[in-house]
Amino acid sequence: MRRLIAGNWKMNLLRAEAEPLLASLCAGAAGLECDLLVCPPATLLSLAAMALSGSPIALGGQDCHAAARGAHTGDIAAPMLRDAGARYVIVGHSERRADHRETDADVRAKAEAAVAAGLVPIVCVGESESERMAGRAESVVGRQLDLSLPDGFAGAIAYEPVWAIGTGRIPSAEEIASMHLHIRSRLTGRFGAAGAAVRILYGGSVKPDNAGSLLRLPEVGGALVGGASLDAVSFLAIARAG
Ligand code: PGA
Repeated sequence: MRRLIAGNWKMNLLRAEAEPLLASLCAGAAGLECDLLVCPPATLLSLAAMALSGSPIALGGQDCHAAARGAHTGDIAAPMLRDAGARYVIVGHSERRADHRETDADVRAKAEAAVAAGLVPIVCVGESESERMAGRAESVVGRQLDLSLPDGFAGAIAYEPVWAIGTGRIPSAEEIASMHLHIRSRLTGRFGAAGAAVRILYGGSVKPDNAGSLLRLPEVGGALVGGASLDAVSFLAIARAG
């Protein structure tokens, strides 16, 4: 399975900052053995679509609404992302779950809307620090998967322990490997052979110096990268490790 290295720009970058970053990514993407994806904020989607056209780098959104259109001020529908050139969309990121109180049911509805619009959803799951300390990480993630994934799921998963995002702290190699195996067994248990084909990304403080070892762990099918995706040298170094 080819690895997917996805950059989540979050609420960062203006046009003047995005343009040179995209140009450097395009220049450095040739010959990579992984799939590369960038997820800019909505204001930069059109700019990014133009900059990436003709490159192997795919474009994604950071969130979508569950409805295809309508009276939802400030929200963005999945068909709009598709129309802007996106092929992927992140749904259920822990920052959306926390900042906007998104529930697993909301995330499931968004993943369904994404698929209906022809997008590949990247569904994020992950435990808090207190849940891990209490020995509940696998059960929390299992429940998130049960409730956040639509039937017939065709997308990717990003396992992102909430306490590892933007903190520079990551779980041990054993903890990551064991969680990814757990996620794989839930996927095959529910979706059969289709569940074996789902890419399971790791996210949370992925950097050039830890990417190689993380990406070699069993069932780690790529990375969802926040901070380090805002710098072309770092992001490409992570991609080369994949
Ligand atoms: P980080 O963010 O790489 O800055 O920890 C990852 C994410 O939130 O997707």
